[in-house]
Amino acid sequence: MAAEPLLKIENLVKHFHVRLGAFGERAATVHALDDVSLDIVEGETLSLVGESGCGKSTTGFTILNLHRATSGKVLYKGQDLTALDEKRMRRFRRDLQIVFQDPYSTLNPRMTVGEASGEPILFHNLAPKAELEAKVAALLTDVGLPPRFASRYPHELSGGQRQRVAIARALACQPKFIVCDEAISALDVSIQAQIINLLLDLQEKYRLTYLFIAHDLAVVRHISTRVGVMYLGRLAELASRDALFETPLHPYTKALLSAVPETDPEHERSRKRQILEGDVPSPLAPPSGCRFHTRCPIAMEVCRRVVPKWKEARPGHLVACHAVNGE
Ligand SMILES: Nc1ncnc2c1ncn2[C@@H]1O[C@H](COP(=O)(O)OP(=O)(O)OP(=O)(O)O)[C@@H](O)[C@H]1O
Ligand code: SF4
Ligand SMILES: [Mg+2]
Repeated sequence: MAAEPLLKIENLVKHFHVRLGAFGERAATVHALDDVSLDIVEGETLSLVGESGCGKSTTGFTILNLHRATSGKVLYKGQDLTALDEKRMRRFRRDLQIVFQDPYSTLNPRMTVGEASGEPILFHNLAPKAELEAKVAALLTDVGLPPRFASRYPHELSGGQRQRVAIARALACQPKFIVCDEAISALDVSIQAQIINLLLDLQEKYRLTYLFIAHDLAVVRHISTRVGVMYLGRLAELASRDALFETPLHPYTKALLSAVPETDPEHERSRKRQILEGDVPSPLAPPSGCRFHTRCPIAMEVCRRVVPKWKEARPGHLVACHAVNGE
């Protein structure tokens, strides 16, 4: 890839140590994220998809150092973020923001929209107090809300308007990178489209880079530059949006995409749906070798024993599968 990546994620691992049993008598490890490596390029939208519990949110949280990595690196401006304590992390926090599915989790019900949007400006000393009102008005305009909304409280807003305030709050820090963790998933379809357009407009205006986490593959296809597919804590495939949707290489990606209805009724009638057998195995005891081998329709003997290498099958198209040859 020609451009220097904004973020370089190297062999990132996040294990959660939990206690099981009625009295918490058994210690266990959740393998939420294992050996994930990827570059995130400035100005792109990199989406992460995969079934519930495959580690998408954990990836976002660990990149932002909101979860401490078990091992691996997250390089940003030459600095490994995983090595920083919260105090030294503070100067990077401004650049790296997150927007959640539920804006209620980020918006204090007792703060007005103006206070919520202005708080990061004051916290990071981005403008003197005298200029705050004008800054907040500009932010609200940026996210498509009239500046008079500054005096309203979150409960007086619709779901879409609340999500706009959450975006304004993230934007207040003049960030470089935003993790959108299911940021549109709870909204009505018509409102989703508006928020997607807003995110795309803001990306262009401020050259933002997004890590976009979503389960709606049609939305992912619309918004993404590249797409990563995760399975049980590992990356299975990563490619440009078109390569991934048109020529998926990994059996799991193929199964995942085959569940998406075609918009063209002709194609829809002729297409083969591939049903994945069985449940996703537990991340407490992930399968040996390729984690997908218990459900893969073409699994071979080697798949049970050997973890497939993360390799470039075609230029810019990475995959972890024994059945796919590297370049
Ligand atoms: N704080 C935690 N403590 C223990 N286990 C956790 C914690 N957070 C996540 N996990 C586990 O880590 C795994 C990955 O979870 P994660 O939330 O990243 O998945 P996800 O892909 O975002 O799923 P979803 O689509 O449901 O949001 C899951 O098995 C989850 O139960
Ligand atoms: S490595 Fe083996 S089990 Fe895993 S996806 Fe490829 S063929 Fe299937
Ligand atoms: Mg999640």
